[in-house]
Amino acid sequence: MDDVNHAQRFTILWAVSTVIAMVLVVTIIGPWLGPPHGSEGASSQADTMTVMALIATPVLMLVGVYLVYASIYFRQPKGGALEGPAVRGNARIQTTWIVITSLMVLSIAAYGSIELIGKYGVGSGSGPSPLTVPSGKKLRVQVIAQQWYFTYRWPQYGGVETPHLVLPVNAQVEFNVTSLDVIHSFWAYQLGVKADANPYANNIAFVKPTKLQTFEVRCSELCGIWHGAMFDHGKVVTQERFNSWMSEMQTKFAAATKVLPPFSLTYLPEPTRRGG
Ligand code: CUA
Repeated sequence: MDDVNHAQRFTILWAVSTVIAMVLVVTIIGPWLGPPHGSEGASSQADTMTVMALIATPVLMLVGVYLVYASIYFRQPKGGALEGPAVRGNARIQTTWIVITSLMVLSIAAYGSIELIGKYGVGSGSGPSPLTVPSGKKLRVQVIAQQWYFTYRWPQYGGVETPHLVLPVNAQVEFNVTSLDVIHSFWAYQLGVKADANPYANNIAFVKPTKLQTFEVRCSELCGIWHGAMFDHGKVVTQERFNSWMSEMQTKFAAATKVLPPFSLTYLPEPTRRGG
């Protein structure tokens, strides 16, 4: 009878604490998980993080509540060192355990794959021919990494190259990420974009910024002594402000644009070739 009581009591404790913890996950922890909602993709990533945390909560509570419960009720008697009963298996518990954990892992795998292949999984940098391409007009921005900074080339604006990244709000952006020397990684955290920057490769990532904001740009791949300094702030601005910024850049860098090699998806790494 004692065993049945424990099982029942533990199950109730676990169920109640799981419900409470799930509410806390949605209301308090969820908003702290994942990137801030700076783009469609970032919002989707943040929601995915919350769903994953929700799935993990019952498991965490099972372990945590059992740890506390066992250390209160299943203690060794003072001064004694008793052997526990020789349990050699319990087919029902084992089957239940395998079925439930398999279902959880498989459904997480399916959910993750659907999210990744779907509309909002496109900020990851999926190589030169991504599985999913958002429809409509795209603003192309080539992200060129080198030791130790990123520059941005704009093929739709005469191939001008800018030292900072400014994007118009609600525009569908196509990043073409490449490198001139070693492997870097272009990471715009608030926009939910992270794409490897490899020499000789064009890595495509899409993003649609949904609000006016300042976002961080970091290199996310150890790329040499000043890797840590490969950092900048980008901006999402209105279309009008973007237009005036762009014409300012075109004027400012007109001389440099003339001596740049023609726009290409990858470039030879020799600095002298690009320096002119
Ligand atoms: Cu570039 Cu680290």
